[in-house]
Amino acid sequence: MSDTMSRITLARRPEGAPVPEDFKLAKDPLPTPAEGEVLVEVTHLSLDPYMRGRMDDAKSYAPPVDLGATMTGQGVGRVLQSNADGFEAGDTVTGMTGWASHACLPGSDLRKLDPSLPPSTALGVLGMPGLTGWVGLHSFGKPKAGETLVVAAATGPVGSMVGQLAKQRGLRTIAIAGGAEKCRLATETFGFDAAIDHRAHDDATSLRAAIAEAAPDGVDIYWENVGGKVLEAVMPLMNVHGRIPVCGMIGWYGGSNIAETNQLPAMWRNILVKRLEVSGFIIFDHWDQYPAFLKDVAPKVAAQEIVHLEDVAEGLENAPDAFIAMLEGGNTGKQIVKL
Ligand SMILES: NC(=O)c1ccc[n+]([C@@H]2O[C@H](COP(=O)([O-])OP(=O)(O)OC[C@H]3O[C@@H](n4cnc5c(N)ncnc54)[C@H](OP(=O)(O)O)[C@@H]3O)[C@@H](O)[C@H]2O)c1
Repeated sequence: MSDTMSRITLARRPEGAPVPEDFKLAKDPLPTPAEGEVLVEVTHLSLDPYMRGRMDDAKSYAPPVDLGATMTGQGVGRVLQSNADGFEAGDTVTGMTGWASHACLPGSDLRKLDPSLPPSTALGVLGMPGLTGWVGLHSFGKPKAGETLVVAAATGPVGSMVGQLAKQRGLRTIAIAGGAEKCRLATETFGFDAAIDHRAHDDATSLRAAIAEAAPDGVDIYWENVGGKVLEAVMPLMNVHGRIPVCGMIGWYGGSNIAETNQLPAMWRNILVKRLEVSGFIIFDHWDQYPAFLKDVAPKVAAQEIVHLEDVAEGLENAPDAFIAMLEGGNTGKQIVKL
């Protein structure tokens, strides 16, 4: 067993899109677990869009990462040493390990994984993003057979879960994705009825015309993942009593292009006139539903009734580049780093 560990720290706060210089690789002596703690060797690390928000010193639903601190994140790994009841060396576990090769965490912050499932699924289809799609669609999307749903970032772990669940509930599903290949995956792999490449449309008006063609009966559920041009395109197409689960706005995470799309009065009027239900939600408030989610979805994943894609980068040192690329659509499927 090596006596050192590696971690990626936040070297400086990004301005707009993150760049490699915002991160730093640090080496430390391997920690020793205290009473009640477990030493984990991380095998898979999850990269998620929310991490961009943690790099800013801004008030949000969770505190920012301090300068010089390890980037926050969920990992899966093997227990090397346990001083906590219920865990022993060799167990496969998941928890908030951060972007690090090893982590010492209290046993109460770790969860043992079902050894019959591939460990990386705990970070994607059967983890936080999958749960987000499942909870958000049922609780806030309130889908009904025959309705039409639109979701962007449609081949990612949230969007693909939403699309597949909605299709299984009898909805017409329309994917917005970046590029021809992702559009092909959206229809052929994830079963969307139609897919539209947002990059092929320079403005919201052009994108709106394409969505309107794919949604002749209007849009009942717009699953908000990206904001920006897609939101502007969809809003006027919403049907009366439509629902908008507001899950994310990755198109605005850099912050620099918010002013360009200042459509607030028009958006607000749409919400009133169409009597729309707009529900912001953060999955941390809904972890109590995780057991029910797992019971419902894990067998469907095993039976391939729900499919998923993973994009695997190799090596902790490549996490910053993979993260930067993911924010710009460079990932195809759930972005994971294999250590
Ligand atoms: N509310 C919550 O608790 C919660 C929990 C989990 C995730 N989320 C949010 O859910 C969304 C999806 O997360 P995910 O993990 O499934 O991400 P993801 O799809 O794996 O990755 C992000 C994708 O966003 C798309 N994208 C980036 N910039 C865009 C832009 N300007 N316009 C349109 N699309 C853009 C890209 O896909 P294309 O190449 O297809 O455009 C990119 O691949 C994110 O906004 C995330 O923050 C929220």
